[in-house]
Amino acid sequence: MGGKKSKPVALLHTRARLLDGSPVILRALSRADRANLISGFEELSPHSTYMRFLGYKANLSESELDHLTHQDPAEHLSIGIEFAGRGEHKGIGVARYQRDEGSEPITAEFGVVVADRYHGLGGATLLLKQLCREARRNGICCLRGEVLETNLPMLKVLENFNPRFEPGSDEDTLVAFIPLQGERE
Ligand SMILES: CC(C)(COP(=O)(O)OP(=O)(O)OC[C@H]1O[C@@H](n2cnc3c(N)ncnc32)[C@H](O)[C@@H]1OP(=O)(O)O)[C@@H](O)C(=O)NCCC(=O)NCCS
Repeated sequence: MGGKKSKPVALLHTRARLLDGSPVILRALSRADRANLISGFEELSPHSTYMRFLGYKANLSESELDHLTHQDPAEHLSIGIEFAGRGEHKGIGVARYQRDEGSEPITAEFGVVVADRYHGLGGATLLLKQLCREARRNGICCLRGEVLETNLPMLKVLENFNPRFEPGSDEDTLVAFIPLQGERE
């Protein structure tokens, strides 16, 4: 779509640490992550699911799983964060963007979720920073995401990304716009 060439996702493999010092890896999701996504979704609390999808959701559909595990960064990209301790590689969270079709300059919608028991350890901030970097490398100039105005953790995360807010599609939502110009690669 749009004829834009994606930057190679294989390069996306970044080591970092959570606030408690745990080593993590951020990388593009692949087909091998399908089962992890299913179990990660099942472990989410109803509250987190509601905050992420702005409604209750029973499961991820087959087409959503296909989409999340197949990357074409000029159009869409899903990044996972996982523990990189000895032996165990356990998924902690996912962030994704989807280009707004036909947008010029190019914008994309984003979402992020972190497993409940790992909240407050900086996982979402790491994910969003990486997502912004990859979006910018792929020519996207702004990420936008709809957030419930009661979602204080997400609004706190967004404070680090210089956002602009507009009213959302419902009276209790806001759309956050994250500018990517000036963001360093
Ligand atoms: C919103 C969410 C992604 C944050 O993930 P996280 O990994 O806990 O976020 P971080 O640890 O990076 O936290 C970043 C900031 O938020 C603050 N924070 C995290 N959890 C918080 C909480 N429960 N209450 C208040 N502040 C919180 C942190 O203290 C930190 O603030 P700081 O930068 O001033 O230190 C997570 O709560 C989540 O998955 N929620 C459900 C899905 C969702 O709401 N997605 C957003 C819509 S797309």
